[in-house]
Amino acid sequence: MYLGLDIGTSSIKGLLQNQNGKTIASHNATLSVSRPKEGYSEQNPQDWIEATKIVISAIKNRVGSEFTQLSAIGLSGQMHGLVAMDKADIVLRPAILWNDARCDEQAKKLDVQFPDFRKIAGNAVMAGFTAPKAVWMAEQEKEIFKQIKTILLPKDYVRFWLTGEKFSDMSDASGTLWLDVEKREYSETLISHCGLDISQMPSLKEGSDPAGVVRKSLANKWGLSSKVVVGGAGDNAAAACGLGVVVPGDAFVSLGTSGVVFKVTEKFYPEVASGAHAFCHALPKLWHQMGVTLSATDSLNWLSEITGTSIVSLANSAANVNAENSTLLFHPYLSGERTPHNDSKARGGFFGLSRSHGRADMAYSVFEGITYALADCLDVISKSDQKPKTLLAVGGGAKNFHWLQQIADCTGVTVSLPKEGEFGGANGAARLAALATGRDPEDILSKPEILRIFNPVETTNEIHKSRRLKWQSIYHSLSRGAVDVNA
Ligand code: XUL
Repeated sequence: MYLGLDIGTSSIKGLLQNQNGKTIASHNATLSVSRPKEGYSEQNPQDWIEATKIVISAIKNRVGSEFTQLSAIGLSGQMHGLVAMDKADIVLRPAILWNDARCDEQAKKLDVQFPDFRKIAGNAVMAGFTAPKAVWMAEQEKEIFKQIKTILLPKDYVRFWLTGEKFSDMSDASGTLWLDVEKREYSETLISHCGLDISQMPSLKEGSDPAGVVRKSLANKWGLSSKVVVGGAGDNAAAACGLGVVVPGDAFVSLGTSGVVFKVTEKFYPEVASGAHAFCHALPKLWHQMGVTLSATDSLNWLSEITGTSIVSLANSAANVNAENSTLLFHPYLSGERTPHNDSKARGGFFGLSRSHGRADMAYSVFEGITYALADCLDVISKSDQKPKTLLAVGGGAKNFHWLQQIADCTGVTVSLPKEGEFGGANGAARLAALATGRDPEDILSKPEILRIFNPVETTNEIHKSRRLKWQSIYHSLSRGAVDVNA
């Protein structure tokens, strides 16, 4: 049996699978995020441990003595978060998370001062990544920074608790900006640009390799009979393994709080100028490109909150509007944007609002604006390599068939919706656990059964093309004119 644990931002999710990949038990424990100041986003690493304990004991209680057959644990995790530990392995401060924006200035400085980051790490330095968070600490928390003996990512801190060993994997380590992503090894140059050295970094493994064994005390407590190995990857790479997105050209679109377009590549293909990420995949000799739009379903949450209308009823009313009769456009840059603009100061907006527009028009434009942002991501990751032929659709938003059809129409790419199932990081993590025990990737990394296929409609594609050009030119006019309403 294999246990997948996803160390998410809003919860820890656990999924127990049998030898055939069938889920036999699952449990969720919620987490909260602390925001002590505007733009800050932190979690106490001990909260991940407590929540993990809850998840494991709930699953163990559900399956009883069968739990002793567990042979591996796979971890999937929110990426980029910085956990700083001292020489006694005590956590020095709350973890600074991926969605924390405090180090925008440090990110910009690193990006300009050290072009190495773009060249070697294959990514522009953005506030979300780990490197600028460490530089923020060096500048703002000098005394604490001096005490750092080890820096771990969130899932690797949970691994440390599980195994007593300090490891990371290539996919998650790519998001620190301390990795030579093409060579799949640390870059001492990049690490030193942040006032750190390689001795402060955990050892590296591939996501599908064993990296640590569950400590004796925990194994005894949980009644585990044999050595239980631990593997794992960053959440998006792990989710890709769960979807069988493991062959160059395979791709998925995730419609969650943020929207992600992920594509497997056979080589390291940086697309730095367009704000895309080029990271290692969770499997050896594979990489991936990823475009991220920061407020996908979060834009819908926002509209739902301010209109006091549920997302389902917004979606129903949006279904009465279409690209041909809409005269409104929406930019979903409510929290800035990563791909393609890498612009943390970008902001959202409705364009073309008139007295005649109502809630349905606004709801439609919000869906369409997110779709256009995803299409921008897809364009970027199709530049240096093939455009995907199909996008597997996952995440909460994938329940909306109108939206999936719109994504197909707008991108010109077929969208496939998997049959009901669990396609997040935890499922991928359970598969990585199986691989860590030496199982054959061919047996484990299957693609899901498809419930429905959404084929692009040519005429609608043409309409979206011209609307998206207008939508893009509005951003460029605003950013050229440096419209910052808060300046
Ligand atoms: C990836 C990213 C998010 C986090 C949160 O670059 O920032 O997907 O991993 O889950």
